[in-house]
Amino acid sequence: MKVLVTGGAGYIGSHTCVELLAAGHEVVVIDNLCNSKEMALQRVRQISGRPLAFVHADLRDAAALAALFREYAFDAVIHFAGLKAVGESVQVPLDYYHNNFIGSLTLCRVMLAAGLRTLVFSSSATVYGDPAALPIREDFPLSATNPYGRTKLFVEEMLRDLQRADDGWNIALLRYFNPAGAHSSGRIGEDPNGVPNNLMPFITQVAIGKQPELLVFGDDYDTPDGTGVRDYIHVVDLAQGHLAALERLMANPGLVTYNLGTGRGYSVLELIHAFERTCERSVPYRVVARRSGDIGLCYADPGLAHAELGWRARFDIEDMVRDSWRWQTCNPDGYT
Ligand code: NAD
Ligand code: UFG
Repeated sequence: MKVLVTGGAGYIGSHTCVELLAAGHEVVVIDNLCNSKEMALQRVRQISGRPLAFVHADLRDAAALAALFREYAFDAVIHFAGLKAVGESVQVPLDYYHNNFIGSLTLCRVMLAAGLRTLVFSSSATVYGDPAALPIREDFPLSATNPYGRTKLFVEEMLRDLQRADDGWNIALLRYFNPAGAHSSGRIGEDPNGVPNNLMPFITQVAIGKQPELLVFGDDYDTPDGTGVRDYIHVVDLAQGHLAALERLMANPGLVTYNLGTGRGYSVLELIHAFERTCERSVPYRVVARRSGDIGLCYADPGLAHAELGWRARFDIEDMVRDSWRWQTCNPDGYT
């Protein structure tokens, strides 16, 4: 297949490009590099030993996008491009609505004009808000607690409306839980701008001495040790979930929604201890107040993806901390 990957230079996109190329697909990436480096794509080519085309453009640039669709006869689009920092989305909501919503809308319009209606969309467990029960199933009520989450929810709603209006659309909504880890080569990984927001890159930056200590946001949640519990999923498992979803769309047209998680939650303290044990590095930490907007527990029921896609996560928490640490130590300053 010929696949357009929006946001393919980013963390999850670059790992998905590796899996697509390994499976023999042809890949074209469009990315404006607002949160990534072109070097990630160079490394994807090195890992794969295969070519990959890159177009440096913004998804909201309809003319550039249309030109791309004239140049290539794509079979499908995997749509990662977007802004993802929850805290920042509260500060600059219009940037988030403009990028994430208008970007997705522009993409769909151009796809329709080009006659392509097969799309895999990066959604998030954030669309479940604070879930009433666990593990979280795809049919749980949807809500959002911040502008970033609302952009994901709105795009999901737009795509459901689009598919209801025209059942020629084949759409997979993939709700990721907490991506972690890196490619086993240590060549590609998560390269956050400035101070990381997410737990795993923060842990590796403390361990390597770039951050003095980890602040644990609250130990008074209703969880076994009081700290927040999340379903961490290896980014390579996540990447493979996209290939499985694409295959499903090709064989069974329609709109599908899947949780991509492991089904197992780990607390902040459990993740710290798994890292310390596996990587033989200590992670100094201090418990502080809860982070505004955080929830206590979040983990998936990944049963539907297993039943319908034959997909399940293969990597465990030790693989995630080991691979994140390898990426951090091989690339102490990321791609720069
Ligand atoms: P990332 O920031 O590493 O990758 C996103 C890529 O999109 C970047 O390369 C960025 O430069 C590009 N981009 C952003 N806006 C663009 C635009 N208007 N035009 C072209 N390119 C643009 O993020 P990621 O972690 O790889 O996440 C990928 C997707 O998955 C995002 O949509 C994100 O919201 C979603 N998601 C991420 C997580 C997570 O924790 N990482 C969890 C759930 C969902
Ligand atoms: N945490 C800390 N200290 C830190 C960072 C995080 O204690 O420095 C804690 C959080 O309180 C939470 C857990 O670690 O309990 C995980 O936090 P992350 O920021 O890594 O991840 P979140 O679950 O808050 O959110 C992530 C993405 C969202 C996405 C969501 C569900 O950032 O975009 O997973 O997929 F929506």
